[in-house]
Amino acid sequence: MSPPMSEQDKTKAAPKAGGRGARFGGAMDEAAAALNSSVEFDKRLLRDDVRGSQAHARMLAAVRLISEDDAKQIVAGLDQVAGEFERGERKMDPALEDVHMNVESRLIELIGDPGRRLHTARSRNDQVATDMRLYALSQATVIVAALDKARVALCRRAREHTATLLPGYTHLQRAQAVTLGHHLLAYAEMLGRDRGRFLDAARRAAECPLGSGALAATSLPIDREKTSADLGFTAPTRNSLDAVSDRDFCAELAFACALLGVHLSRLGEELVLWSTTEFGFVRLGEGHCSGSSLMPQKRNPDIAELMRAKPGRLIGDVVALLTVSKGLALAYNKDLQESQEPFYDAIETTHLVLDVLPRLVAGLEFNPERMKEAAGDPALGATDLAEHLVRDGVPFRKAHEIVGKLVRHAEQLGVSLRDVPEHDLPQIAPELHEAALQVLSASRAVAGRAVFGGPAPAQVMREAQRLASELKGLGYEV
Ligand code: ARG
Repeated sequence: MSPPMSEQDKTKAAPKAGGRGARFGGAMDEAAAALNSSVEFDKRLLRDDVRGSQAHARMLAAVRLISEDDAKQIVAGLDQVAGEFERGERKMDPALEDVHMNVESRLIELIGDPGRRLHTARSRNDQVATDMRLYALSQATVIVAALDKARVALCRRAREHTATLLPGYTHLQRAQAVTLGHHLLAYAEMLGRDRGRFLDAARRAAECPLGSGALAATSLPIDREKTSADLGFTAPTRNSLDAVSDRDFCAELAFACALLGVHLSRLGEELVLWSTTEFGFVRLGEGHCSGSSLMPQKRNPDIAELMRAKPGRLIGDVVALLTVSKGLALAYNKDLQESQEPFYDAIETTHLVLDVLPRLVAGLEFNPERMKEAAGDPALGATDLAEHLVRDGVPFRKAHEIVGKLVRHAEQLGVSLRDVPEHDLPQIAPELHEAALQVLSASRAVAGRAVFGGPAPAQVMREAQRLASELKGLGYEV
């Protein structure tokens, strides 16, 4: 369908800013242009924009809307454009509004008319939606891999500490003894679900908007299946109005980032707490601590504190994304441009935090002695003692009463549960006997909680092995 070369426009003049074309006499007002321009942030889409355009050009040639030669020139020209921007040989011009116009106008400068055919059957609206989905998909893949590395680190440390005792807490009060391996695998569980959320969101993002045009598709005989397959999408989007105007995939991924961040903030908080002199359960490796400019003795857990703090902005990103999209009439509105920055911020903040984890976790210096000492208070075995009485046939509510009385009695005597004199026991309750008090040892109590999902060393070992084989199946060494 291309006209012969002789008819082609040989002038290399670039299109006007934002595709204003002949419709406008002059440039946009300076302040208005500053508000309008997205180059500063959408330059992140450069590679995806080029990929999308190359697939679009190949499709246009396949359906004979452009010649094979045009397509070749476009594909090669786009590689050159991307290279120039990436190597910093050319700077993007904010006056050209966005990454899309910067790429296209440089392409036209380089190859002339074939470049002018690229935007056939396409709008920046389906273009930007496609670019953002491509970006979302590749970022989700990187995040899933980073999550897996973090799970490897947790799994290794859990395997080292299947039998290391420490207090488990509710209300941050010592509750029942557990094992460190179990505690670490709790985070592996959270990260495993986060992984699923990224994959799930990516699955829904994997439809190709190209061909939706500005909002109402195109009258030209394009092949949407071809572009979609070429770009690795699972299918073309089913509704042009929806495809150009929804950024739900950004919100979903940002939510997955925020929830992951919330999980990691809990780990951050525990590391802050555990590394205090008061707890003394852990020391962060030197590479993950900061000093004080004033107090020479300080070893500050800044990295753990930032893990705790970063979700603040991740949650803000989700709120920004939802707020920008709410109330928008179909179809495309420029408001949608405002969904880019919070989206990139969520992704980039998540990389920053996730990347620190494998070596942070690997470098944790646990203090099993301190943990064991803290778990050694026989009061932590009160529940296990009540359960022991249940095994002897005592109804649980009654067993709870009996142990409650024992705790009170011990408190009155000022001794630990374990040290209540044997001859006092029948007075407290006839069901109490010295042998039952054996379960007040933390290691016995924990070993007894071997139910599926429980903290007993044998059970933790099974779970750690299961996780290790899952991770090995994904190609990791554990
Ligand atoms: N930078 C724009 C965005 O992110 C690209 C689409 C512009 N479309 C338009 N009709 N002005 O939304």
